[in-house]
Amino acid sequence: MAKVIAFTNNKGGTGKSTICCSTAHLVACRGVRVLVIDMTSQTTASSLFLGNLEALDENDTVLTFLKKRPERNIEDVIFESQKGLDIVPSHVSMAEAVTQLASIQMGKEMVLKKQIERVSEHYDYIFIDSPGDLNELTANALVPADKVLLPTRLNRTDFQCTETTIRFIQEAESYIGPRKFRVVVNMLDDRYLPGGIWAASHTGQLYQHAREMFGDILCPVTVPDSADIRTAFDRGLTILEHKPESEATRRLEELVQLEVFGV
Ligand SMILES: Nc1ncnc2c1ncn2[C@@H]1O[C@H](COP(=O)(O)OP(=O)(O)OP(=O)(O)O)[C@@H](O)[C@H]1O
Ligand SMILES: [Mg+2]
Repeated sequence: MAKVIAFTNNKGGTGKSTICCSTAHLVACRGVRVLVIDMTSQTTASSLFLGNLEALDENDTVLTFLKKRPERNIEDVIFESQKGLDIVPSHVSMAEAVTQLASIQMGKEMVLKKQIERVSEHYDYIFIDSPGDLNELTANALVPADKVLLPTRLNRTDFQCTETTIRFIQEAESYIGPRKFRVVVNMLDDRYLPGGIWAASHTGQLYQHAREMFGDILCPVTVPDSADIRTAFDRGLTILEHKPESEATRRLEELVQLEVFGV
C-alpha cells in the first residue's frame, strides 16, 4: 500500500506545488514507485511532468472521476512522465469538480480515496497537490493522506491561513480519524534562521514566533528562497534536473528524509 502525502494550505502561492513536485521527483529518482495526483486548476504539476497539456481532454484528467457520475476511473487517467514517475493530470476547469462534488449528498470527501485504493498497491508513494483553498477538492486530498504538509511563507497572513488550514484538518479529524501534519517554512533566507546574521530582525523574530506558535508540528527543515527553484520551474525542470548540487536540492532532500521517508 502506498503512503500518501498531501500538500495543502488555504493560502495561494506558499509553494505547495513546488515542494510537492520537487520532493516527488527526488523520491522517484531513488527508484521508488511514485504517483502524483494534481488537484489544482493551475496544473503546475501536470505541466511540469507531462509538458504540453493541450492534447488532454477533460476526460483524460482527474476531473473525469471527481463527478457525481464518474466517467472513468483513476487507472484510465494515469500518464507516465519522462521524469520517472506517474501522474494524474488536472484540468483548468477544476471549478467544475468542486460543483460536482458539492452536489454529492453522501461521501463527497471520499471520492479520491476510493479511487486511490484501486491503484495504491502499484506505488510506494502518492503525492497529492491541492488548491490554495479549503473546498471539496482539499477535503478529498486530506482524507486519503497519511501525512499532510503545509508549506507557508514567513509572514502573518500566511500564518493565519496556515492556522485556518490546521483547524480545517482538525475538524475533519472527528470523522476521518487523526492525521499527521507538519508546517514547512518555505522561501526563507537562511540568514534569518537562529544563529544567522539577520536572526534579530523582524523576519528572524517571526521565525521564532512560528516555532512557539506551531511547536512540534513545525518541520525543522526550512526551504530556502532560491532563484534555482524558480528558474528550474520556468524551464519545465525540477530542481534535481536543473541544479542537483544546489543548496535548495540538498534541503529538499533533507525534507524528504524527514517528512516523506519518515512517515
Ligand atoms: N523555495 C522557493 N524559492 C523560490 N521561489 C519559490 C520557492 N517555492 C516556490 N517558489 C515560487 O513561488 C511561486 C508560487 O509557488 P507555487 O506555485 O509552488 O505555490 P502554490 O502554493 O502551489 O500556489 P497556488 O496556491 O497558486 O497553487 C512560484 O513562482 C514558485 O516558482
Ligand atoms: Mg499550486
